[in-house]
Amino acid sequence: MKTFLITGGAGFIGSNFVLKARQEKWANVINLDRLTYASNSENLSSLNDDPGYQLIQGDIGDFELVSSILLRYRPDAILNFAAESHVDRSIASPETFIQTNIVGTFQLLEATRNYLSKLLPDERARFRFLHVSTDEVYGSLGPTDEPFHESTPYAPNSPYSASKAASDHLVRSYHHTYEIPTLTTNCSNNYGPYQFPEKLIPLTIISALRGKQLPIYGDGQNIRDWLYVEDHCDAIYQVLQQGKLGETYNVGGLNEKTNLSVVESICNLLDELAPKANFKHASLIAFVKDRPGHDRRYAIDCEKICAQLGWRPKESFETGLLKTVKWYLENSEWVKRTQSNDYQDWMHKNYANRLVKS
Ligand code: NAD
Ligand code: DAU
Repeated sequence: MKTFLITGGAGFIGSNFVLKARQEKWANVINLDRLTYASNSENLSSLNDDPGYQLIQGDIGDFELVSSILLRYRPDAILNFAAESHVDRSIASPETFIQTNIVGTFQLLEATRNYLSKLLPDERARFRFLHVSTDEVYGSLGPTDEPFHESTPYAPNSPYSASKAASDHLVRSYHHTYEIPTLTTNCSNNYGPYQFPEKLIPLTIISALRGKQLPIYGDGQNIRDWLYVEDHCDAIYQVLQQGKLGETYNVGGLNEKTNLSVVESICNLLDELAPKANFKHASLIAFVKDRPGHDRRYAIDCEKICAQLGWRPKESFETGLLKTVKWYLENSEWVKRTQSNDYQDWMHKNYANRLVKS
């Protein structure tokens, strides 16, 4: 069986990928994760007795550590999920985004370059470096613009998307200059189990269940293209298996929705699944001060991965959202453990001074 070095495997998408990789016997997994606030190693507790899984706490920016892991485990592929991922936090405190997303990816690439120089030609030919990136690198679309294509020029607008764009460029350059066998995926908004409740969908579900306000930035008409997380995991695996080296693949859900309609859909589901007498969850919706530099619309043209690699999303937004809401309802202990003092501090910092519009 192959071995994957997965970075950031204790976060939202990483956890889903690691669980799937072990379930489907894609590979043995070494999970290198710094275990930041966004992670939860308990997501992977079902793998505690799995000899094909190992968690190593550490930083992708630690060249010595990464080098020693590569030499010891000789992975067939590195899948780089590790990142600081929340746009609002990047606006409040950009520095960790620069450190992890740019410097961290650089050190990971350097350790990979060094490792590959020691491999035999056939081992080197089998190796892959897959970098997990985002559609946000392309900037913001107007209402009638064509969806993002792989050839759309980069125009990142937040410190988060700028740091991801920089990491994408580094990956590209390591392929071009050093012939590192890289692949990059640029995906739209994910949702599903294990997403930390600072992001729109889990935040809305949890706040609504607790009878708290549901903050919607600006006029609620910003559009995102939503993809169920398992569909993203399948896309990544498909690109790893069949993707053309040095290329990038856009991944999207074919589900453009305004933020207001997403929040209303969640409220409607909760009215059915967790009804409260004489109360509609949508009554908690509150329009608040907009995110600075808020991108208006994202939409993905995923024709390349569909046509060339035969991938398509399996979940519609309706089926994916139902699964997601049910997961949060059934995992209240998991939710409770996310409500740390650090989380409360963040919620206060991000929302306390966002005046509700009259
Ligand atoms: P997340 O914030 O839930 O998880 C990130 C993980 O990376 C955490 O486990 C964290 O501990 C780890 N990490 C952070 N810094 C690290 C470091 N220096 N060294 C090692 N580990 C570190 O993020 P996510 O939503 O799961 O996103 C995963 C990747 O997918 C990111 O690269 C993100 O940019 C990209 N992406 C996310 C989405 C989305 O909608 N969530 C969409 C497209 C692309
Ligand atoms: O597009 C892919 C990106 O999607 C990923 O690269 C990022 O890692 C991921 O966090 C996500 O970024 P967004 O900023 O789009 O996701 P978020 O869930 O933070 O916000 C989704 C939309 O909802 C966005 O337009 C902002 C809005 N929003 C968000 C929050 C947290 C609100 O209106 N209210 C909120 O409280």
